[in-house]
Amino acid sequence: MKNLVILISGRGSNMEAIVRACAHEAWPAKIAAVIANRPDAAGLAFAASRGIATAVVDHRQFPDRAAFDAALAQTIDGYQPDLVILAGFMRVLTEGFVDHYSGRMLNIHPSLLPSFPGLKTHQQALDAGCRVHGATVHFVTSKLDHGPIVAQAAVPVRASDDAAALAARVLGTEHVIYPRAVRWFVEERLALDGGNVTLTPPEPQWLFLDHTDNDTSANAQTAGEGA
Ligand code: GRF
Repeated sequence: MKNLVILISGRGSNMEAIVRACAHEAWPAKIAAVIANRPDAAGLAFAASRGIATAVVDHRQFPDRAAFDAALAQTIDGYQPDLVILAGFMRVLTEGFVDHYSGRMLNIHPSLLPSFPGLKTHQQALDAGCRVHGATVHFVTSKLDHGPIVAQAAVPVRASDDAAALAARVLGTEHVIYPRAVRWFVEERLALDGGNVTLTPPEPQWLFLDHTDNDTSANAQTAGEGA
């Protein structure tokens, strides 16, 4: 039985997807705690409603990053985690913290890394004229939004998209690939080989969102290119 600790900062929809998958698929795992750095993180209510322990380590109560990270690590370690899951946890972490959880901390980032680390990834993708965009689950290293890639999902970028529309499309795929990646960890199927991840036995570590819904501008563009 693996102990999982999930860190959130807000809505917590990825956390929710992981909690639901863990229960529905009867993983050999327990969500030991959901911890937020903000007392008003909306996802805390969902976790509590599922009987999961919750805690808040409010970053505003600490003089610097190191002090916050030390308190956070102490809270996390109280739950003896096998895996720490960053799910919309909006804090830059110190190297010491990241090293402490080396090989046992995952993050999801809303872009196809290594493109677009940092914030406003959907707008960045639109500004760059990307035709595909997506999300990445990766092991956390001390370089922000970098680290060995466990899974990626790609979605089309439509001519009519704004950042919100694109974010919603990407988020739908996050809820698929993040639980899947965590499950692989729980099942001890992930091995780290330098900067690469091996999944055993292998299965696709990618997801391409089917182009099923009607987007007239995209269709028109395709027709134009074919003519
Ligand atoms: C997600 O898009 C995630 O990729 C990013 O922050 C967002 C968090 O959403 N790191 P939620 O809190 O999981 O709903």
